[in-house]
Amino acid sequence: MYFIGVSTGKSSIMKVFPRWAQHLGLGTSEEVAIQGIDCKWHDEPAVYRRVVEFIRADKLSKGALVTTHKIDLLNACRDLFDDLDGPAEVLGEISCISKRGPRLCGSAKDPITSGLSLKAIIPDDYWRKKTGGELCLLGAGGSSLAMTMYLMQSVPADQRPAAIRVTNRSVPRIEEMKKIHSRINPGIAVTYHHCPLPHDNDKVVGALPAFSLVANATGLGKDAPGSPLTDAVVWPINGIAWDFNYRGELIFLDQARSAAATRGVRLEDGWVYFIHGWTRVIADVFDIEIPTAGVDFDKISEIAAGAR
Ligand SMILES: NC(=O)c1ccc[n+]([C@@H]2O[C@H](COP(=O)([O-])OP(=O)(O)OC[C@H]3O[C@@H](n4cnc5c(N)ncnc54)[C@H](OP(=O)(O)O)[C@@H]3O)[C@@H](O)[C@H]2O)c1
Repeated sequence: MYFIGVSTGKSSIMKVFPRWAQHLGLGTSEEVAIQGIDCKWHDEPAVYRRVVEFIRADKLSKGALVTTHKIDLLNACRDLFDDLDGPAEVLGEISCISKRGPRLCGSAKDPITSGLSLKAIIPDDYWRKKTGGELCLLGAGGSSLAMTMYLMQSVPADQRPAAIRVTNRSVPRIEEMKKIHSRINPGIAVTYHHCPLPHDNDKVVGALPAFSLVANATGLGKDAPGSPLTDAVVWPINGIAWDFNYRGELIFLDQARSAAATRGVRLEDGWVYFIHGWTRVIADVFDIEIPTAGVDFDKISEIAAGAR
C-alpha cells in the first residue's frame, strides 16, 4: 500500500506498518510493504493523476492512505474513481484509496476516525450532562470539518457540545465550512472567527467556559513552526488541550503544560488519532476487520507504541 503525503519518510507508520502487517496476518515485510509517495503541497494535477493511474492499473497495488493532498488529489482525479463514499462527496476529499474487484474506490475516513479519537479522550456524556464545556477548533481545515461533521451527523443530540467555536487564519476556509454546515448542522450553535494572528485565537480561547476542549487543528508545531496561540493565552479551567499531531515541536502542548497545574488543563496529543486513522484505512485497503476498541485494539496500539 502507499502513503501519499509530504514528508512520509518521517512518519512512525514506516516502522509501525511492518509490525502491524505481521500481527494482522497480511504477511511478512517481503510480502507486503508500505511505500511513501511525497508530493509537493498543492502539487500539479498531473502528478496526482500519475499516482492514482498507477495504483489503479497495478495489480500489486492495493490502495493508499492520503494525507495533506486529500482535496487536491480528488479534484485532479475524480473521474478515475468508480465509487466515492458519502463523506467524500460531502467533504470533497479522500483519505483512503482502495479496490473492490475492478473498481477503484475513494473514501473520506476522517469523520469516523476523528470521532473515534474524540471518544477515546472524553466520555459520551462529557459535554452537556457532565461539564457544560464547549469545543474550540483552532483551524478550519479538513480535520476540523471532519470533526464537526462527526458531531453533527453521528452523535445523538444530548451528547453534542452545546456550542462549537471555529477559528481560521484566512477567510476562504471559514466560508467553505459555513457552506457545508448550512447543509448538515442539526442545530449546534457554531461561531466562526477570523483569526489572522495568534492573539486573535487567544481571545477566543480566553472566553471559553470551564471544561472546554481546545484542539490545535492548524498543523502549527508540525507542518509549520509555532503555535496558533501566544504564551499569554488563558486556558479554560479544567479544560483539555488536544493537538491533532503527535510529532513535531508541539509548542501548543508546551503552552498548555504550563497551565496544567494552575488551571487543571489536561494534555492530549494525536497518537490515538494516528492509530485510528491508519487502522481504518488499512482495514479498507486490505478488506479485513480491525477492531476500534477492546483487547485486540489495545494490542494493536501496544505494537504501535513499541515502534513509536
Ligand atoms: N494524528 C493524526 O493522525 C492526524 C489526523 C488528522 C490531522 N492531523 C493533523 O492535523 C493538522 C490539520 O490537518 P488538516 O487536514 O485539517 O489541515 P488543513 O486542511 O491544512 O487545515 C489547517 C487549517 O489551519 C489553519 N491555520 C493555520 N494557522 C492558523 C492559525 N494561526 N490560526 C488559525 N488557523 C490557522 C489554516 O488556515 P489557512 O486557510 O490560512 O491556511 C487551515 O485552514 C495537520 O498537521 C495534520 O497532520 C493529524
